[in-house]
Amino acid sequence: MQLTKEAFGNDFVWGVSTAAYQIEGAHQHEGKGSSIWDVFVQKKNKIFQNHKGDIACDFYNRYVEDLHLMHRMHIKNYRFSIGWSRIIPDGTGEINKKGIDFYNRLIDLSLELGITPWITLYHWDLPYALELRGGWVNREVKDWFGDYVGICVKHFGDRVKNWMVLNEPTVFSAAGYFFGVHAPGKTGLENFLATAHHASLAQAYGGKIIKSLQQDSRVGTTFSCSYVEPFSARDKDVRAAKKADVLLNRLFIEPLLGLGYPTTEIKALKRIERYMQQHDEADLRFDMDFIGLQNYTREVIRYSMFVPYLQAKIVTAKERKVPMTAMNWEVYPESIYHILKKFSAYKNIPPLMITENGAAFPDQVLGGEVHDPQRLSYLQDALQQVHRAKQEGVQVDGYFVWTFLDNFEWAEGYYPRFGLVHVDFQSQERIVKSSGHWYADFLQDE
Ligand code: BGC
Repeated sequence: MQLTKEAFGNDFVWGVSTAAYQIEGAHQHEGKGSSIWDVFVQKKNKIFQNHKGDIACDFYNRYVEDLHLMHRMHIKNYRFSIGWSRIIPDGTGEINKKGIDFYNRLIDLSLELGITPWITLYHWDLPYALELRGGWVNREVKDWFGDYVGICVKHFGDRVKNWMVLNEPTVFSAAGYFFGVHAPGKTGLENFLATAHHASLAQAYGGKIIKSLQQDSRVGTTFSCSYVEPFSARDKDVRAAKKADVLLNRLFIEPLLGLGYPTTEIKALKRIERYMQQHDEADLRFDMDFIGLQNYTREVIRYSMFVPYLQAKIVTAKERKVPMTAMNWEVYPESIYHILKKFSAYKNIPPLMITENGAAFPDQVLGGEVHDPQRLSYLQDALQQVHRAKQEGVQVDGYFVWTFLDNFEWAEGYYPRFGLVHVDFQSQERIVKSSGHWYADFLQDE
């Protein structure tokens, strides 16, 4: 069946997502301070071929053309993040007026073109000056973050109503503070638990601050999530899958909903309580207006005695010999359906939005065009599954493609291309891919 956007209802929000460090470039321009990513990419062998986000898509200098392109593609909602160190170079204290001006121009032009801005307040680029004071491991981060959120609402809140407090706390706390493969490159259980708790506190606190300053705001936050299945029906695998589910899907949503941390399946998680102070349990709770879910794949999990704390490991798509993307993630469209069902089953869950979904494939420019049939069917198949969940009564109110432009894909550098629009990183030329043309047609009003 051919889906139309009308099948999702008139109020359904359709958009694209990006993140500051992945596209803006201009890493030292006009007063911007360094972020942990600016510093992390300077280290040897952390990023694929030592790529850096210094220039990325040069969006800082090219946002006018890019927003016009977005407009021509009939995209009416744009989720982007604010670079904290662009507007407050040291993370706290003095404001960089030029940075504020940049986001003002971006917001103003979006609105002029009929594109509604959705701001993510934290998409992983902590000001480096704050990292020197302990970063997310230091509990004070909650207040630094709160001040920054207040400044954003004060400067942009007259025009921006839609906010997402954090981008994927699971990923930045695990990749950046446990495995050390993302900035700032910290490792170990204690760094991870401290970060996780402070991120949870900051998430609820950020939400409260936005609401207190702007009553008519629409406030959400975003979570990475994967449908988790055990490799076999063996008890050990089933138990391993339950543990992985805690980490991949439950750790951040449950305290936010007032359910506390899910510590029963994984003993080591109990140690998070050491970072908790009186009132924290209540302070972790906040009634978001929506929850953003970001889904790319499913994970199949088996028992492994060699993995510390978890005794669980991912059976990769390669091992299972199933279709996969350039990230080596399984192409499994039903995942997004199961995730929507799973999150909607929580009591008191607010409306859901898919705030990221998309796929990287090795694209090629041929005769000035990029044909990307795999991405195209990935997106169409995912939408069928979102629609299926919606038909079954799940309240899902929006869908944002990850992502608008090919960009700097964190530790993977520029290698995986996720964009609807191809970017030549030498010439900065943009070419709308077939998937981008399809999305534009899909979104076009009759
Ligand atoms: C992140 C994006 C990232 C995408 C693809 C999400 O985890 O929010 O920044 O580029 O997935 O890996």
